[in-house]
Amino acid sequence: MNYILTSTNVTKKFGGVAALDDVSLSIRRGSMALLIGPNGSGKSTLVNVITGVYKAERGRVFFDGVDITNLTPHTIYDLGLARTWQIPQPFMTLTVLENLLVAEKGNPGEGVFSSLLRRRWEKFEEESVERAYKILKILKLDHLWDRQAYGLSGGQMKLLETGRALMSGAKMIMMDEPAAGINPVLAHEVFTHLREVNRKLGITFLLIEHRLDIAVPYVDHVYAMHQGKIIAEGHPTEVLNNVLVIESYLGG
Ligand SMILES: Nc1ncnc2c1ncn2[C@@H]1O[C@H](COP(=O)(O)OP(=O)(O)OP(=O)(O)O)[C@@H](O)[C@H]1O
Ligand SMILES: [Mg+2]
Repeated sequence: MNYILTSTNVTKKFGGVAALDDVSLSIRRGSMALLIGPNGSGKSTLVNVITGVYKAERGRVFFDGVDITNLTPHTIYDLGLARTWQIPQPFMTLTVLENLLVAEKGNPGEGVFSSLLRRRWEKFEEESVERAYKILKILKLDHLWDRQAYGLSGGQMKLLETGRALMSGAKMIMMDEPAAGINPVLAHEVFTHLREVNRKLGITFLLIEHRLDIAVPYVDHVYAMHQGKIIAEGHPTEVLNNVLVIESYLGG
């Protein structure tokens, strides 16, 4: 089995309380995975430890064959593991296309870019523009390519963030509640487009989402957490019908 991300025995305590208690999990390359669990079960902490925001007290994390345990968030991002809020915020006055172009590795960074602003994206390699456009097409943002980012809806902003992560070379993207604050119809659209990215580009996703009715139809694997432990994993229907998982939501 080809796993892109593996954690072994990861433990993280806050003031003596184990937010993560010996968490071992493996995520298949190219999968669309969902991490569920009641409030306070450790979902965000797990993503925070994996992406280097918090240090693990014990255990190891491997990404794409590299031991990333306790590396800095920046280094982990550069290795191709993106977390949406780590992705630099879109430049509100730049267009959708320009936002992707500046996210590409090797292209002028945030500081330098403002001085190039007047020359616009004609200065970028044709190849980069083509790549950006292909990503926008999959995200169904291509018709908005010349729109400034501040005019986008919340859902489109999530997709733009995803596009920027892809442009920077992300192989795996973790999103903590991507549908929060987005109405159900648009949330379904966001998940549809993320699934397209997963299928067409082979990008692995780990999503945290409380609105299971919205997220579950788009994923192929579910991990359930309770009190800092993974209590079930597998096919979505199997996990959602697991007695331990049901009890965990009932406060058991
Ligand atoms: N920075 C922190 N300082 C102290 N305790 C923390 C911190 N972050 C998380 N915790 C605690 O760790 C446990 C797990 O929290 P975490 O935020 O990971 O849960 P979660 O599953 O993401 O919950 P939610 O669904 O509400 O987002 C909780 O008991 C929480 O209070
Ligand atoms: Mg959380």
